[in-house]
Amino acid sequence: MASLAKCPIDSGRDDRKTAVAYEQGVSFKPGSEVVRDADGVKSVLRNASLVQDALDAAAMKQLQPDEIPLIFLDGKMHRERRKHITDFFSPRSIKEKFAPLMEKTADILVGELEQTKKLRIDEASWQMAVTLVGELIGVTRGKSRAQMKQTAKRIERFLYRTHMSDLKGWRLAIARGRAALYVMDFLIRDVRPTVKARRKAPQDDVISRLVAENYTEKAILIDAMTLCGAGMQTTREFISLVAWHLLDNDDLRRQFMEGDYDAQMAILEEILRLEPIVSTLYRRAPDDLPEKVANPLAVAGHSYAVSLRHANIDPAAVGECPFALDPARKERQQDQGAFLSFGNGMHRCPGSPLALNETLALMNRLLKVKGLKLASKPQVHWVPHLATFEIRDVLVTCD
Ligand code: HEM
Repeated sequence: MASLAKCPIDSGRDDRKTAVAYEQGVSFKPGSEVVRDADGVKSVLRNASLVQDALDAAAMKQLQPDEIPLIFLDGKMHRERRKHITDFFSPRSIKEKFAPLMEKTADILVGELEQTKKLRIDEASWQMAVTLVGELIGVTRGKSRAQMKQTAKRIERFLYRTHMSDLKGWRLAIARGRAALYVMDFLIRDVRPTVKARRKAPQDDVISRLVAENYTEKAILIDAMTLCGAGMQTTREFISLVAWHLLDNDDLRRQFMEGDYDAQMAILEEILRLEPIVSTLYRRAPDDLPEKVANPLAVAGHSYAVSLRHANIDPAAVGECPFALDPARKERQQDQGAFLSFGNGMHRCPGSPLALNETLALMNRLLKVKGLKLASKPQVHWVPHLATFEIRDVLVTCD
């Protein structure tokens, strides 16, 4: 495939759409050492003596062991629990279990565009992400389109409660109360009925597995909420980002349309390298780290802010012209196309095949629409406490 990037001739080229919002909004946890180079980032993320230090990590340690979500577990317990979900993302499972649903959902969403002649991609991407991760968890199975929309609304309400980190005083107290109600609503209307149904007739989903292992309702709720955050919020932004890049660049769009599966994947991964949805991860060495497991990186109490965004533009890892969107980079560098955007080491994202394939399915259906064009200037908002961005107003129209 021809490279879009004209490096080194065009060495000043910068194709990022979220860089300004990031630069203006980024902040790192006070006291953390910021690691920016790709080798350093990999070393920290692969170091078995370092533990999660992300948002809520300290609060999570107060929970019963089986109530702690996968992402906050470490060591043996983490390995055991991770085994529960990895097979859902095997190539076979993606092809047989999820691909038909991806295509059906893409057809419904793009069908709405064809009827009404306009569609907000940032809303369609939410419907897509909720449908697929909801299928994995079990909470959206067998629901009608209207019921699906209701579930999507309930999940959106409790997930985006994190916006209350901007609030203080009585506003924060009210927001907290409201957030608790939203979580209850999700429990009562989505999780509890699914648990009840799976007790009678298990299916091939996360809730069935947790029920079979006698997890408490609270543990199941926490697991479901974590998967919603990890899998839905991220994929929503990724789909919007990809649509924006493809609709804004005729050459890239043509390459995507003419490309085979591998070529299309390389484009998606290169977009994700350039603009990682999660910019920073956190790790720390426990205060009571036993001396026998301490090592140069793991010094008791030391904490790291691991910048995936910087590592992904480290020329030593990704080659020349790191700010240019170059679909040939993956092949040239002989590395994973998304580089570190899905993390690395023991917590590396297990859901990456689901996210990439559902984005591919939606784009393949969307870009075939006659007269499709971007009809607004998308807005990027930085969300500091999650080290992520939100893209809104991705309005498309068609003939
Ligand atoms: C483009 C979309 C996605 C991006 C950018 C993304 C990114 C990431 C990153 C960076 C991590 C590592 C976190 C860390 O090391 O602290 C992670 C972990 C995780 N992701 Fe994703 N993710 C995406 C989609 C998904 C999907 C669709 C699912 C499926 C439900 C998912 C489930 C998870 C889970 C369960 C973990 C924790 C794994 C563990 O701790 O072992 N993600 N993700």
